[in-house]
Amino acid sequence: EKVCLAYSGGLDTSCILAWLIEKGYDVICFMADVGQEEDFEAAKEKAVKCGALKCYVEDLKREFVEELCFPAIQCNGIYENVYLLGTSLARPVIARAQIKVAQKEGCFAVSHGCTGKGNDQVRFELGFYALQPSIKVIAPWRDPEFYNRFAGRNDLLDYAAKSGIPVTSTKSKPWSMDENLAHCSYEAGILEDPNTTPPEDMWKLTVDPMKAPDQPEDFTVTFEKGLPVKLEYTEGAGGAKKTATDTVELFLAANQIARRNGVGRIDIVENRFIGLKSRGCYETPGLTMLRSAHIDLEGLVLDREVRALRDSFITTNYSRILYNGVFFSPEMEFLTSCITASQTNVNGVVRCRAYKGSFVVVGRYSETEKLYDASESSMDEIGDFAPSDTTGFISVQAIRLKKYGRAKEEAGQS
Ligand code: ARG
Ligand code: SIN
Repeated sequence: EKVCLAYSGGLDTSCILAWLIEKGYDVICFMADVGQEEDFEAAKEKAVKCGALKCYVEDLKREFVEELCFPAIQCNGIYENVYLLGTSLARPVIARAQIKVAQKEGCFAVSHGCTGKGNDQVRFELGFYALQPSIKVIAPWRDPEFYNRFAGRNDLLDYAAKSGIPVTSTKSKPWSMDENLAHCSYEAGILEDPNTTPPEDMWKLTVDPMKAPDQPEDFTVTFEKGLPVKLEYTEGAGGAKKTATDTVELFLAANQIARRNGVGRIDIVENRFIGLKSRGCYETPGLTMLRSAHIDLEGLVLDREVRALRDSFITTNYSRILYNGVFFSPEMEFLTSCITASQTNVNGVVRCRAYKGSFVVVGRYSETEKLYDASESSMDEIGDFAPSDTTGFISVQAIRLKKYGRAKEEAGQS
């Protein structure tokens, strides 16, 4: 019987691979390229060396950017006011690609190396079941036979030695990481004490904001229907002018700008779906800037009530649903159509500046928007309505508040 294992090349999934083989399964390994820094060839070789029948490496970067990261920008996705969902965003495309490989290879089950305490197990498995309801899941870290045998890293190292698994032990970092085009996450290990400040050399994507260039870096982002379609920038101070229009190139270029200017680091404590609190550090370079630029443009072009409804209903629910791993679902289909509908007028250009860890907007314009009328909003001109009209507006708004004030007066509280 064949099993498709999500493989990383690390100690855990190599031991899981050997363990599945020991249990009598034929194992097909699957690796997702979502833009993480990785020696895929070496990992592929290692998988086969450890006894995998095959190892697939699927390039998912484009679908990751276009189907997940960009919609997240369109709806300003954010979890608990701080987390830009970097890991959550990648899970749907990974689950989908793994199921495709499993189907192609005729696997009865898929397997992964997620722990039994996290969000990722939930995300992967809910994705698997929605995409192929008949699939079986083997989750070794939730199987007593596995976790009773491998209590810690030392047990895994012993097993690796016994099973002929090459341990490329570049001294394991004292935290766990998950990297993709959108972000890099750091959790567990020494970070489990929420009051431990991470060492400066933990951060791998962005430069320390204090060591970032002394010159600000300016660039512009053009949006169409809420999607970034053009990034104009100069590579470093005095560098050549560049333009990126391809989705992946644009996202990568935004990452480069943010990374060299130290933009996008956060250090938080979040609530996992299963009910545990968890401390995490994240760097989300390009997405942080593109999302902020999008929010800014909406200020100029989006209707007030559409915006308020979207903020309270779509942004929060999209973020929570994605975080909880329910991407392939009727509710997400519904929200996706709402996101698209909200963005028809979000066209324009945002002029941006990255500088020593900060991102600011220095101007914006739109050729198509009709809502902002400089003379109407101006303090110096009389617009379409007379100032005296507003007197009535205020009196009517005040009816209720006067009642409230009188009641307080009568109660002697004012
Ligand atoms: N806490 C974050 C989230 O749930 C990051 C998870 C990182 N996952 C990992 N396998 N290291 O989205
Ligand atoms: C894991 O537990 O496998 C990683 C962390 C998470 O999924 O939240």
